[in-house]
Amino acid sequence: MTSETTNTTALNTNETKELESLDEIVALAKRRGFIFPSSEIYGGLSSCYDYGPLGAELKRNIKAAWWRSMVQLRDDVVGLDASIIMHPKVWEASGHVAGFTDPLSECSKCGTRARTDHISSKKYICPKGTKKGEECSFGEARAFNLMFKTNLGPIEDPSNTVYLRPETAQGIFVNYQNVVDSTRVSLPFGIAQQGKSFRNEITTRHFTFRTCEFEQMEMEFFCRPESMLEWYEYWRGTRLQWFKDLGVNPEKLKLREHDSDELAHYSSACSDVEYRFPFGWSEIEGIACRGDFDLTAHSTASGKKLLWRDQVSNETFIPYVVEPALGTDRALLTFLTDAYKVEDIDGNPRTVLSFHPRIAPNKLAVFPLLKKDGQPEKASELYKSLKEHYQCIYDDSGNIGKRYRRQDEAGTPLCITIDHQSMEDSTYTVRDRDTLKQDRIAHADLRQFLFNYLGF
Ligand code: GAP
Repeated sequence: MTSETTNTTALNTNETKELESLDEIVALAKRRGFIFPSSEIYGGLSSCYDYGPLGAELKRNIKAAWWRSMVQLRDDVVGLDASIIMHPKVWEASGHVAGFTDPLSECSKCGTRARTDHISSKKYICPKGTKKGEECSFGEARAFNLMFKTNLGPIEDPSNTVYLRPETAQGIFVNYQNVVDSTRVSLPFGIAQQGKSFRNEITTRHFTFRTCEFEQMEMEFFCRPESMLEWYEYWRGTRLQWFKDLGVNPEKLKLREHDSDELAHYSSACSDVEYRFPFGWSEIEGIACRGDFDLTAHSTASGKKLLWRDQVSNETFIPYVVEPALGTDRALLTFLTDAYKVEDIDGNPRTVLSFHPRIAPNKLAVFPLLKKDGQPEKASELYKSLKEHYQCIYDDSGNIGKRYRRQDEAGTPLCITIDHQSMEDSTYTVRDRDTLKQDRIAHADLRQFLFNYLGF
């Protein structure tokens, strides 16, 4: 392979400062087209966000990386794509109608509503207070159900009330028997699903961290009751490692075991994968022991037996479940925050998103150095051929330095430049986003170079 390092302007200073808040991330996300406020031309809608061109690619790549590791590379997990609106009895049986609530308190003077357990962490200045700076006067907590209700059909009537699912998990439980009957799965096995979930959160906060509409990537792993704790340990480690393998700083990741008073109604043990955001350590994924809670509840409510039959002993039992449940938007916020760096290079600041190549929105950028001498035509030909294999971008506007900076802010791992030498010997300059190292690669070696560098 012809590979020559033509410029080794290594990073002089690798000083990166810790983020103090999410403000810089929010600004970059808007400026570069990762995340926009929803319905912005109408003033935006509280806690709702839209993913722009780079954000949509990033999200697709995160979902693909999860699916690859949780389904494609495994022999014991299959996929599912259940509907968002399900029979209302699903949510009665699962306990969500009766118990999926948050404690809500209201100020007796101005009517401000807040989650009772969040009141102590924030100052609520009452606009109707009699003294300057007077705080809201919150009353007794009442239970507020987080599920969004709507009607199926044209008539608004309690008889056709349905819910937007607050978790994707129940779509998996109610399809347990369908999957067992239609596939050759054998215990232990998992069913994985990605999709939208909705929660009418009382307090949304920290950009996309807690919103009312979000995506989840969940997997229900069915196993023998006596092996549940072993699988729980396995999935705790596997899920933490997934973030590390995709480049998240291990020092900002940890597993936190729930205290017994934190456990959800269905779980006997639970750990969170937490990330150290600028606003503190926070849950990005939960790994829970759900036992036989859900299959038993749906079996009882529907009258249909949801069992596993052992082929050898003919013994039947309700399998136990371990559930790794990740929020896609929260994972995206983690990758975006963790990749964000402002570096000082010889006295000049450089903003860079050091995404792992698998999740980077664009893998490559192709530039002609000059807009003449046949360079644009050659660059465009190369761009079209690479596009067949990788998500790429073509850029010929502004000087080369500006183009590199634009791609650094977009997190593009490699930039390929066609210059006067390329026109003579079909070699290209390939510049690494993180080290700034530039290699000269022959056309014939480029695909192998990219495969080695990107890993696919
Ligand atoms: N099926 C189990 C379940 O839904 P959860 O801890 O309530 O458990 C799992 O949610 C994950 O979904 C969380 O770790 C988080 O990443 C994400 N998530 C939950 N509520 C969210 C919200 N309001 N906004 C964004 N992501 C949320």
